[in-house]
Amino acid sequence: MKIIDPWGSTLPSDYTKIMKDFGLEQFSKNMFPKPNRAMRREVIFAGRDLKIISDCIKNKKPFYALTGIMPSNEQIHLGNKLVVENLRYFQDQGATVYILIADLESMVTRGITLEEAKKRALNFHVPAYIALGLDPKKTFFYFQSENIEVVKLGFEFAQKITLNEFKGLYGVAEPGRIMAAVTQAGDILFPQLKQKIPGIIPVGIDQDPHIRLTRDIVSRFKKYKFFAPSSLYNKFTPSLDGDLKMSKSKPEYAISLPEDLKTVKKKIMRALSGGRDTLEEHRKLGAIIEKDMCFELLKQHLIEDDEELQKIYEEYKSGRMLSGELKQLTYEKMEEFMNNFNQKLEKARKEINTLNFIKF
Ligand code: TRP
Repeated sequence: MKIIDPWGSTLPSDYTKIMKDFGLEQFSKNMFPKPNRAMRREVIFAGRDLKIISDCIKNKKPFYALTGIMPSNEQIHLGNKLVVENLRYFQDQGATVYILIADLESMVTRGITLEEAKKRALNFHVPAYIALGLDPKKTFFYFQSENIEVVKLGFEFAQKITLNEFKGLYGVAEPGRIMAAVTQAGDILFPQLKQKIPGIIPVGIDQDPHIRLTRDIVSRFKKYKFFAPSSLYNKFTPSLDGDLKMSKSKPEYAISLPEDLKTVKKKIMRALSGGRDTLEEHRKLGAIIEKDMCFELLKQHLIEDDEELQKIYEEYKSGRMLSGELKQLTYEKMEEFMNNFNQKLEKARKEINTLNFIKF
C-alpha cells in the first residue's frame, strides 16, 4: 500500500485506489443538505464517518469542524480555499469552527520561530482565512504553542504509539514529525475536552495519515470517550501543466493567494489546454475538456452557478468556444476573485482584534 507523506513528496495518482487502500467512504452529494460547489462537482470525493455528521446536521445537534494552518510563508493556495469553503459550509449547518495556528509544527518541521509564526499568522493567515469566507463570530482560533491542553494530550498520546506504527503510517519516523503528529492529534480532539461532540476535519488527502493516527489514538484512550474524528477529503487542484497537484516546486504552474494579476495572467495563458492543434480541427472535434486546466479552475474554484458552468462546458466541448476564449474567461474570473480576496483581506486585517482567540 502506498504511503502518503503529509510533509512531502509522494503523491497519489488514482483517487479510487486511494479510497480502497485507505478504507475511505465514497462521498456523495446527497449526504449533506445544500451541498457546496466542491461537493456538487466531485471535488470532494471521500470521507470517514460522515453519517454521524449528517445526523448532527439533520437533528440540529452540536458538532465542530476544525483545521490547522501552517504559517510557513505569506501565501496560501487554492487547496486552502477549498478547506475554508468546507468549514464555512459546516458553519452554516451549525458547526462551531476551530482554526489553530500550527506554530509548533512549523517550528519543528520547517525551522520557523514561534515569534515569526505568530507575526505571519496575525498579519496574513488568519485574515486570509476570514477573507475566504468564514463567519468570524462562529470561529475560534488558537496557537498550538499557547494551548497547554493540546500539548498535554500530545504527550499522553505518545505513550501508546510505536515507532513501527508511525513508520507504517507516514513512511518516516523523525523525532520532529512524531512531535508534530501527536500534537495534531491533540488539536483534532481538543474541542471535545470541553464538550463531547462529534467533529469533522476537512483536509487534502495528504493529511489522511494524521486522521488515521488520531482515530487509532481514540480507540486506545477509551477513558476520554472521544468521538473518532470524521473527515472529508478534497481532490488536489492540479498544477497548471496538468500534474496532479499545484505545488511550490513548480511556481510557474501554481497560483498563490495573493498573487499579482500580471503573473496570474501569464500563468493562465501558459496552462495546459484542451484545445486542438488547429482551428479547423477544434471546430470539428471540440475541446478535450478533461485535459484543460482552465476548465478545471472554473469548475473547482471560479464558477459558482452550475448552469453557467454547464453552458461553458457545452460551448467548449462542441468546439464553438476556442481555448483562447476559455483562457480569457478564466482570467477574468480569477481577476474578480483576487480583487475581492485582496479587499476582504485588508478589511479582515483591520478587524483582527475582534476575532475570538481562545485564552489560556
Ligand atoms: N499538519 C497540517 C498542515 O500541514 C496543519 C495542522 C495542524 C492541522 N493541526 C491540524 C490540520 C489539525 C488539520 C487538523 O497544514
